[in-house]
Amino acid sequence: MHASPDRQQIIRRRLQEALGKGFAHLMKRGALEAVIVAVRLLEDDPLFNAGTGSSLQEDAKVRMSASVMDGSTRRFAGVINIERVRNPVLVARALLKKEDRILAGIHAERFARRTGFKPWNPVTEERLRMLREKLRQPHGTVGAVAVDRRGRLAAATSTGGKMASSAGRVSDSALPAGNYATELAAISCTGLGEDIVDEAVAVRIAQKTADRTALSKAFAAVFKELMERKRKLGAIGVDRLGRLAWSSTLPCLYAAGRSSGRLIETF
Ligand code: GLY
Repeated sequence: MHASPDRQQIIRRRLQEALGKGFAHLMKRGALEAVIVAVRLLEDDPLFNAGTGSSLQEDAKVRMSASVMDGSTRRFAGVINIERVRNPVLVARALLKKEDRILAGIHAERFARRTGFKPWNPVTEERLRMLREKLRQPHGTVGAVAVDRRGRLAAATSTGGKMASSAGRVSDSALPAGNYATELAAISCTGLGEDIVDEAVAVRIAQKTADRTALSKAFAAVFKELMERKRKLGAIGVDRLGRLAWSSTLPCLYAAGRSSGRLIETF
């Protein structure tokens, strides 16, 4: 995402706020709640392309996708192209306990209503203007990864997808390609969904750690190939010991991380 220096400052601040709230939850309620809280805050911020402020598809509708994965139970849940909800990530969380854990479109929305999520209009004036003026949408998908004191890992990712994309296009964010966690690593991706799906990025990085390859090495190996193939994406990750990793083939990846109380930022 390219942004003016002022906007970068705001993005930085918002990420730090989300990190702070997520970290507080990490201490009290564990990794899964921490990533959900962080992503929910970013969904509520119209600056980002998720929840309120999501991109519009070519028919001027917002169709959002979000997922959560609990690495300790290896359970994934997600909503694909859901409309008219405020926080897709919370709907994904509600699905985590269900037998059918990935719902799409109107059925995802009906599930949300049945479970108490009120109707919400996530369309903002700025995104409408961008669609009208055919402005390129900065990617802006949001994601969070965390490991808690018990060594449980979790990942959550949420997106409004790609501006002016075909109606019904599906993002990577509610697929394991874009959001994945095991008992060893948790990964969340941003960038071009088609590239992320083609390369099965999050699963691929996580799988590389299965033989105890360090997460940083797994990132380096996968991103070397992604660079060679000119893929457009970035990813963040954390391992069981709280070691953070991130990489991007894009000019910038906005991220904030905290490991052992130390704040890490990369732009
Ligand atoms: N990564 C979000 C999308 O391309 O839809």
